[in-house]
Amino acid sequence: MPNPPRLEPWLASRALPITRRQSLGAGLATLLAGAMPWSVAGAATTPALLGRGIGFRSVPMTVTEPLAVPPGYTARVLCAWGDPVGLAQAQPMWRPDAGNTAAEQAQQAGMHHDGMAYFPLAGSARHGLLALNHEYTDERVLHADAASLAGGARTAEQVAKSMAAHGVSVVEVQADAAGRWSVVRPSRHARRITAATPMRLAGPAAGHALLKTAADPEARRVLGTFANCAANATPWGTYLTCEENFQGYFEPPTALDDHHRRWSLRSGGSASNGNWARWHLHDERFDLRRHPNEFHRFGWVVEIDPHDPTSTPVKRTALGRAVHEGAAVGVSKDGRAVVFMGEDARFESIFRFVSRDPIRPGGAAANRDLLDHGTLSVARFDAGGRGRWLPLVHGQGPLTADRGFADQAEVVVRTREAADALGATQMDRPEWTAVDAATGEVYVTLTNNSARGRPGQPGADAANPRAPNPTGHLLRWRHGGDLAAEAFAWDVFALGGGETPGDAFSSPDGLTIDARGVMWIATDATPMTQAAPGDRLWLPRNQLLACDPTAPGGPQMRRFLVAPEGSEVTGPVVAPDCRTLFVNLQHPDAGWPEAGQRPRSATVVITRDDGGLIGT
Ligand code: FEO
Ligand code: CA
Ligand code: CA
Repeated sequence: MPNPPRLEPWLASRALPITRRQSLGAGLATLLAGAMPWSVAGAATTPALLGRGIGFRSVPMTVTEPLAVPPGYTARVLCAWGDPVGLAQAQPMWRPDAGNTAAEQAQQAGMHHDGMAYFPLAGSARHGLLALNHEYTDERVLHADAASLAGGARTAEQVAKSMAAHGVSVVEVQADAAGRWSVVRPSRHARRITAATPMRLAGPAAGHALLKTAADPEARRVLGTFANCAANATPWGTYLTCEENFQGYFEPPTALDDHHRRWSLRSGGSASNGNWARWHLHDERFDLRRHPNEFHRFGWVVEIDPHDPTSTPVKRTALGRAVHEGAAVGVSKDGRAVVFMGEDARFESIFRFVSRDPIRPGGAAANRDLLDHGTLSVARFDAGGRGRWLPLVHGQGPLTADRGFADQAEVVVRTREAADALGATQMDRPEWTAVDAATGEVYVTLTNNSARGRPGQPGADAANPRAPNPTGHLLRWRHGGDLAAEAFAWDVFALGGGETPGDAFSSPDGLTIDARGVMWIATDATPMTQAAPGDRLWLPRNQLLACDPTAPGGPQMRRFLVAPEGSEVTGPVVAPDCRTLFVNLQHPDAGWPEAGQRPRSATVVITRDDGGLIGT
């Protein structure tokens, strides 16, 4: 998500300045040809083949179509905000006037699509379930009467609708004989999980005093998940959805303690304290003045069995509490689950969880407690390309009662403070992580950090080498053949801002590696206004890039998609047969996907017109 959440009314034009459109002169492609060898629209030459079979013609940033993919590919909207997800009981259609009720919204796809995963049905790459996150809401787009929100006011119905527009959707999707995908409605698999869905707490913080509330004195049951950003499938067939900027949903306490300050909560008037969603006006659990422990019940990784719509989602507290972004799962040499996670905030850290037990055959049912027992660690990147995972384990090192950590529950609830005590490396906003199953290499996107090097802030270090870092980078690390190893080697994999060969990019965010080993990188940048049309770094729109992470001589980026104006690209996932790519386009400007209508985030499905492999 952009930071902070966008609240602009859809009616206020967020389109690019007219000067940008007017500047697209006919001779621009020629001007660009030397600087961006694959970026010339309609180039007659066959583009050079990159490693792992990448051969598509790069999409130029100068395209004028709202959504552009390479020649020979088609992108279609599959599921937009407000589309019915296919629940058996009702199929309410989206109303362009935003007149859908809260009850209808709870049966429709939520807003602001983000992380996503594909789960084959009966092993099929053409019939499966898409689980997708709805990260946050643009309240002035969500509600029919934007003027009624003035001064932070909300009706009970508006709060209920906002909560229903968050969370996760599970939709059944299928390709027909012609390769055209659609959402199956109704579907016995369809599900909406919202900010009010009952879920279970598990792991070391479950039952702890820090999570007890008046409504849940046993600290075992929470209502809802929200701020769900990145996501991933597990090898045992479940969905991990990550609670990111949850702190912005609470009315802060009057007096802040050190933990609140570590989360940058601000007390004082409602207009200035960061509580933009205003749910507390009609649901008192979001008022920390009355229910201080509710704050500790969010910021977790939530595990969902997408195949069972009656299953209870579980908050896996053993994985730590953070502004959770990625949760990519690999397998250790001895068969245990290894989860790599970033915390997307300036100067926060990268985490790893290694399960105590091996992954068992038998899917979700056989691994229902797998993520409740294991070791959480935080990364320290040392100079010289070496690093260590530092255990966030109570009783080890400084994580003792006399240093303020009474037990493991306090370590995971106050993961940030524990990471500080261990001397974790403070990173440039770690977003998604990805594991290359073929090589065992792990990657993370570090989206940007304009504050690095400012007075009073950390300066450059080995793993965050630019101060400031407005365009971000990617790191790679290796564990000597075992993802559970304590030590690792690392290097800077790619630098944004035109410092990596191929098409320039800024602010890498979404990240996945498909079954062939092709890496897909989605960006979430604001336009690089310091550049100008014709400049290699002129990036007015977000994009999806492909690269071969194992290419000799380093990566070379190729632009596969240019996104609608105003939107970020997120949630890329490639079907197991590599013939379909699903991707989410979040917070577009007004007029996309339907001209003249309020904007709708959407899942887009991309196929090759000849049915071939994506990206070749
Ligand atoms: Fe929700 Fe860090 O992006
Ligand atoms: Ca982002
Ligand atoms: Ca993100």
